[in-house]
Amino acid sequence: MWTPSTWRGKTANLYTIEYSDNKQVHARSCLSKLAHLPPLVTPSEVSHLRVLLKEVALGQRVIWQCGDCAELFDHCETTYIADRVRLLSQLSLVFSLATNIPVVRIGRMAGQYGKPRNGLTEEINGTELPKFYGDVINSFEPSRREPDPDRMLLAYFHAGCTLNYMRALARDSRIHETAGAATNFTREGSFLGIECSSITERQKYHHSDQLTNPVFTSHECLFLHYEQAFTRPWWQPGEPAPADAESAPGRFYNSSAHFLWVGDKTRQLDGAHVEYIRGLQNPVGIKVGPSTNADELVDILNLIDPHYEPGKVVLISRLGQRNVSQLGPLVRAVQESRHPVIWQCDPMHGNTRMTDGGIRTRDLASMLAEITSTIEIHRQHNSWLGGIHLETTPDEDVVECVGGINGPQDKEIGGFRYKTKCDPRLNRKQTMEIALEVARLYTELHRRDRVCRARM
Ligand code: PEP
Ligand code: CO
Repeated sequence: MWTPSTWRGKTANLYTIEYSDNKQVHARSCLSKLAHLPPLVTPSEVSHLRVLLKEVALGQRVIWQCGDCAELFDHCETTYIADRVRLLSQLSLVFSLATNIPVVRIGRMAGQYGKPRNGLTEEINGTELPKFYGDVINSFEPSRREPDPDRMLLAYFHAGCTLNYMRALARDSRIHETAGAATNFTREGSFLGIECSSITERQKYHHSDQLTNPVFTSHECLFLHYEQAFTRPWWQPGEPAPADAESAPGRFYNSSAHFLWVGDKTRQLDGAHVEYIRGLQNPVGIKVGPSTNADELVDILNLIDPHYEPGKVVLISRLGQRNVSQLGPLVRAVQESRHPVIWQCDPMHGNTRMTDGGIRTRDLASMLAEITSTIEIHRQHNSWLGGIHLETTPDEDVVECVGGINGPQDKEIGGFRYKTKCDPRLNRKQTMEIALEVARLYTELHRRDRVCRARM
């Protein structure tokens, strides 16, 4: 029997943040307040995403999911929200125009406020302090590292304001016009090899596809006491009924985001995180890192996808360029299990390295190598790579990852343009380069042996 709190009977690998004794009562009252506030996303929106993800599972769409590694409350700001939505729309449009494959846009935004860390504390200037666990728990400022329950309420309100503006922007054709402007340069791209007239046709089709489909939200499902407070009956009175409303009683969804994923550190079969997400109607993701065991992965799928629903589960491989060959046996095991999952490639988290100066960075070349091998492995298994998952910022000034055309090199990493509070992100130009290169790879794949089942 699953309830929104059965995860409490399981081990939450490392991620049980404890508030100090004098804050426990207040933490409980913040959680109870959250449980009474209106949902951030509704069952009908989640159903809409489920429909689109079914198309992804059938090889008819591709997910582009991106945003900051650690979203901050300060990112809830007019320009930064608009710039993130615009970047996601631009890269999706570039990809769609080049390949003629429609996209599902998912932001790592409006709630990506919790971060998993190795270990609970770190030493700063000789003092042992709690690590930064994301704005939902504590502040990056060393003087405010003590977990503060009020931040959970702040997370709700910042996510709500961000989402409110995202919803308005997604229906604003001006965002798509500026996104369209970015696609002008694809017309000159020699890899396209398609007539200008068919570009115009595609532009019309994919523009209207973007206008009819929202930009969905997502974050890592990490702090379960917080997520539990957002767990609601799948269909609430007064809301538009989801397609399968008649079978709703006893079913729940998480109302803090359309899509939630479980991280590579917390995806244990008998762990609290897998227990929590198995009861949700939302589509859910599982990060698949190099320590993933194929049998365990299939056992997890049996738990979280008992009805074999196409697109219910997104497996997000993040093996790194060096370990990407492990993907083949995992794809095969999942195929044999008959769970109709979506495979998505996160080329960021398996390719993090230190510069000589001791700063975390990632190379575009390694990311592209992982994506290229991933596409090739899926092709060999007659499987569809259904998405790309990136850590990005629309900030042109940011220098955190190295490489790209005339892109930054190691010696430039670590100055004032290194702004991330967690992992290194691709800047705008690097993100667009990845989108173009991935579009080229999908086009080539189609030309080579037509495994692409989409409308190309
Ligand atoms: C992340 O997506 O920010 C993350 C921590 O990823 P992973 O769980 O794959 O390490
Ligand atoms: Co990250």
